[in-house]
This record gives sequence, structure tokens and C-alpha cells, in this order.
Amino acid sequence: MTRIISIASGKGGVGKTTLVSNLSHVLTELGKDVTVIDANLTTPHLGLHLGFHMVPKSLHDFLRGDAKLKDIIYYHPYGFKVIPAGLSVNELIGVDANKLQNLTLNLLGKTDFILLDSAPSLGKEATLSLKISDEILLLTNPNIPAVLDILKVAKIAENLNKVILGIVVNRVNRKENELSLKEIEDLVKYPVISEIPEDINVQKSLTARRALVDYNPESPAAIEMRKLGYFLVGKEFNYKQSFLKRLFSWFK
Ligand SMILES: Nc1ncnc2c1ncn2[C@@H]1O[C@H](COP(=O)(O)OP(=O)(O)O)[C@@H](O)[C@H]1O
Ligand SMILES: [Mg+2]
Repeated sequence: MTRIISIASGKGGVGKTTLVSNLSHVLTELGKDVTVIDANLTTPHLGLHLGFHMVPKSLHDFLRGDAKLKDIIYYHPYGFKVIPAGLSVNELIGVDANKLQNLTLNLLGKTDFILLDSAPSLGKEATLSLKISDEILLLTNPNIPAVLDILKVAKIAENLNKVILGIVVNRVNRKENELSLKEIEDLVKYPVISEIPEDINVQKSLTARRALVDYNPESPAAIEMRKLGYFLVGKEFNYKQSFLKRLFSWFK
């Protein structure tokens, strides 16, 4: 059975694309067939993160009716499939976003996981990816604006009868000015299932055009992202980090 999961935040810049790229790696490593889709049609970045930004045909071509599904699926060296969106604004002309559902329907039974990198905002595009998903991961940062936005996403997802897997809090510094995990849970009324620390290695991995879990698996954020991937398949990631490895990850 194919599970369709949206990583949604409402707000932009909280770490959706980063998390989607990393989860694709982890789920592949766990033996799952993964297809990741850039459902952020107006400001797509997934291709940039994964090295598929200069592709002959993209999701936009499919949505315009100018490409077949097989033409827009690209194979990442790590083993998962990527459906990137077009980067140029011109490519948005004539795009029928509702066709996104045709695409996921076509993939049903052919892959274990479809991960959707959702659009920011709560407009038509973002709501569409919620609509075509079965399960939603609410991604936020520990600040009021970001948390209020996932609260809205949660309400929309509830109205659509979707399963909300829980909240992922990214870029946690545990500083006083941040909302605590308890405060976030009290506001949104869903459990925090993952807490990913602020980690300089995230930026470094992006510069290297690699997923953090691959580039620096020992780094604090990579460990938490891997734990989340394991959680999605009902497994526990038991990580024992030796002192030497920790030291190495600091210097990398
Ligand atoms: N845990 C983290 N620690 C440090 N920087 C992060 C972390 N997660 C994301 N970032 C940075 O935040 C920025 C936005 O991330 P991105 O994944 O593009 O967000 P979104 O897709 O939600 O717009 C990027 O520069 C990324 O490197
Ligand atoms: Mg993004």
C-alpha cells in the first residue's frame, strides 16, 4: 500500500524541503520505495536540494499535459525517485494544479511512500497537497508565527479528515525566547513527535548538495531526522554515538 505524506507548515522557510530530502534518504535506507514530489509549484526548491533543477521535463509539463508521468520521474543516485517542479515563472502558465491528484493516483501501488514537499501559505496550492495526502506531518519552528500557521494547517487537515501524524519542531535551540515543546503541544493539540535542533551542518549539507543524513550522519539534526524516518515505519532508531564520532562531527 502506498502512503502519501505531506510535510506541511503554512509558513515558508521552516525546513520542509530539507526534511523531505532527508526523509527520502532514510526511508530508502530502510528498504522502502520512495517517490518525492515537489508540490510547491510557485516556489519550488526540492530539485535544487537534490540536484534536479536543470531537467528537460518537470511536474509543470505534466500538469500542463505536455509530458507523461515516466518523463518527469528522475532517479536519485541514492535510490529514490524525484518529481521536480519547473523553476521558471513562465512554466506556470497553463498549469492545472488539480492534475496533481492524477499523478498521485497513477503512482498508487507502484511505490511505498509518496512524500509531498508542500507549498507555503494556506492557499489553493497548499490545500491541494493536503487534499491528496493521507497523512500530514506538521512542521514548525519554536516561535509563535510558525506555530499559529500549523494550527491553521491542522484545522484544514481535520476538515479534510486526514490523519495528522504529529508535530515536528525544527531549529530548536532551547533558548528562553523559544516556545517550549509543551507550549506548542498545548496550542496545537497534537503531540510533538520529533525535535530537530538548530544545526550548522544543515547549511553545509545544502551547499554540498547532499542530504544531511548522508553528508554528516553523526550531526545532531541528522540523528533526529533519521529517528523520525524510523518512526514513520514503526521502528526505533537506537543511536549510540561514541565520543570520538561526536568530536568528528563537530569538526566536519
Ligand atoms: N535544523 C536546522 N538547522 C539549521 N538550519 C536549518 C535547519 N533546518 C532548515 N534550516 C535552514 O533553513 C532554511 C530554510 O529551509 P527549507 O528546507 O528551504 O525550508 P522550507 O522548505 O520550509 O521553505 C535553509 O537555509 C536551511 O538550510
Ligand atoms: Mg521549500
